[in-house]
Amino acid sequence: MKIGIAADHGGFELKKSIYLFLKENGYEVIDFGAFELDNQDDYPDFVIPLAEAVAQKKVDRGIAICGSGVGASIAANKIVGVKAALINDYFSSHQGVEDDNMNLICFGGRVTGFAAAEEYTQSFLKAEFSGAERHKRRLKKVEALETKSDVS
Ligand code: RB5
Repeated sequence: MKIGIAADHGGFELKKSIYLFLKENGYEVIDFGAFELDNQDDYPDFVIPLAEAVAQKKVDRGIAICGSGVGASIAANKIVGVKAALINDYFSSHQGVEDDNMNLICFGGRVTGFAAAEEYTQSFLKAEFSGAERHKRRLKKVEALETKSDVS
């Protein structure tokens, strides 16, 4: 499984920790930056290329980290084909995949501790979409918005 990871300065340390965790667990990891700590950098510069790679299936799943995880999730969800969510608990880390087909998980580097983030990451990566009809039906309604131009 090929995993993409990205973070701004707010997620820089957590990204380093998750990167090592993924490598130790045998995942192929593509790092979209940031590659050095710059307190002035902007999360969209790292999160959008990662989200595009997820949408284009250049990576199987993505992990995006900023200070809170909020900006990362907002940015990632602008890319058609990405289903991103900010995760702060174990249940949602796998249920988000099983029910909602989440393909990009977001963390807050200033919120979630390293050990908890590892557990959520592992749970996210091991989970699969259930394919249940009711979930497909709900996702279809969400995905219909991706081609709708009238936002009024
Ligand atoms: C940057 O200071 C911070 O705003 C950013 O990392 C993130 O938390 C945005 O949601």
